[in-house]
Amino acid sequence: MNRTAKTVLATLGVGALLAVLAAFSVIYSGVFNVAATVEDAPPLRSVLVATREASIWRHARDIQAPPLGGAGQMERGFRIYREWCVMCHAPPGRPVPPMAKGLNPEAPAMVEEAEEMSPAELFWVTRNGIRFTGMPAWEASLSDTQIWDVVAFMRTLPRMTPADYDALDRRVPRAGDATNVQ
Ligand code: HEC
Repeated sequence: MNRTAKTVLATLGVGALLAVLAAFSVIYSGVFNVAATVEDAPPLRSVLVATREASIWRHARDIQAPPLGGAGQMERGFRIYREWCVMCHAPPGRPVPPMAKGLNPEAPAMVEEAEEMSPAELFWVTRNGIRFTGMPAWEASLSDTQIWDVVAFMRTLPRMTPADYDALDRRVPRAGDATNVQ
């Protein structure tokens, strides 16, 4: 090995060591602020959103949605939505619920998302959740049939007024909601 090659290698080695030391000092000094109140810088946010959208598209593309909207399905889905989703995703036309105010990233109002996402995408996200966010994976608590029920309900949200939602809320009994979950 000639002298130039040795110098290059030594410089690279020292550089790598410094990078490792810098990473350790950021991790263990506590300077990184994990508070949910810290906003991501806009370029980072854009990268995270693009990553999420591409990941959901890729993972959902082979999922075949069953026919949705059969007898009683929307109502079964509503019960699940009211019990487990509305506290973060809000009913149509209502402000951000207290539980969701401090989420970072925020939980989107489901009305818009349900228009933009396919049933397969809604199913995949509901089943698997979204890592590093407040969105839980529901596969441990809801069966696939129940997840399709809530997907069928979410698909009706864009056409639902706040008054429609309230009427449904009054009409569909709450008793036994907990038994919706395995
Ligand atoms: C504790 C709060 C919380 C609960 C409860 C919750 N979610 Fe979410 N959900 C989130 C957050 C936060 C996001 C956004 C994550 C992100 O920005 O990547 C999200 C995202 C989603 C998305 C994807 C939207 C998109 O733009 O990609 C779907 C679909 C969804 N949730 C469905 C549901 C369903 C169905 C339920 C109930 C069974 C539910 N969520 C319960 C917090 C919640």
